[in-house]
Amino acid sequence: MPVETALSGQPRYRLVSGPTPLERLERLAAHVGHHGLYAKRDDCMALGMGGNKLRSLEFWLGEALARQAETLLVAGRSTSNQCRLTAAAAAKCGLRCIVLHNDDPPERAEGNLLLSRLYGAETRFLGSMDEDERSRRLAKLAEQMEASGHRCYIVGDPVVGALGYVACAAELITQAGEQDVALENVILPGSMGPTEAGFLFGCALAGAPFRVHLVSVEYSIDRLAQLVEDLFERLCAHTGVTPSVTPSSFVRYHERYLGAGYDMPTPEAISALETVAALEGMLLEATYTAKTFAGALDLIARGEISSDAPTCLIHTGGIPSLFTQAGGLGLDRL
Ligand SMILES: Cc1ncc(COP(=O)(O)O)c(C=O)c1O
Repeated sequence: MPVETALSGQPRYRLVSGPTPLERLERLAAHVGHHGLYAKRDDCMALGMGGNKLRSLEFWLGEALARQAETLLVAGRSTSNQCRLTAAAAAKCGLRCIVLHNDDPPERAEGNLLLSRLYGAETRFLGSMDEDERSRRLAKLAEQMEASGHRCYIVGDPVVGALGYVACAAELITQAGEQDVALENVILPGSMGPTEAGFLFGCALAGAPFRVHLVSVEYSIDRLAQLVEDLFERLCAHTGVTPSVTPSSFVRYHERYLGAGYDMPTPEAISALETVAALEGMLLEATYTAKTFAGALDLIARGEISSDAPTCLIHTGGIPSLFTQAGGLGLDRL
């Protein structure tokens, strides 16, 4: 079934101009003895310095505008890529944006926080609290604003956000066909699930012939698999379309590259970050993409990904974080 059929009728506001590049990584491939490494450059988008959440925002914005919202509300840590991109999208559409951060204000605004503020978002710091409490505070703010006549939209529904990567799967499959690349493996970070589940759903609909590897950067693979499979089912309900294959038939989960946990850098990730920058002029950051690339390079080294199997890494962006991470990674020393 064409992916477009599943997406038709879903409100969408275009924020990503055209397909992102599918780029051959020749020098990195030669370095690891591989013969067909590619990156899908979702870090290369014009708006807000790009990244995976901009694809999700097309569908969140679509809903927000359909509901005639005037204010976008979003929450995350002050390092959040999603908050930064929501601020950029709000600026582009002329909407107000309020960001709640569940941490204390840092000494200086830098990285994503700097950008959110430049894009005109109002940033509020709630102090340290867990994500459930942060969501309650966000819902309460929305309620108060609605009661005083402000139409708001809370950004972040995972099922709606996943639609962005249903579209990305279709885009990659078309692009690989155009470039005559018979992909056998696609690798992306495994985190909260929307990007991954959307991508798998799109692949399942399109009957994509490749294996999808999810490199866990946040949870155990049991938890990640549960999140992804639950979202996959919710996508079926949301779109009214059920693919004939389930993700378990073509997904592989990898926990080996997580290290001590979410946002905790590993030596292999730092090394991948340095290698990819030096060989390809391409930046990664420590939380998502460097661990994913480190995983991919190790899977190749172990032979779990064959050196002649065309393989694509999805670069999900997040580059502004690098500028707040460099010191902690020891990369700022001259
Ligand atoms: C750069 C980057 N990559 C990957 C992810 C993970 O996406 P998801 O939450 O859809 O699993 C995020 C999440 O914020 C991100 O910012």
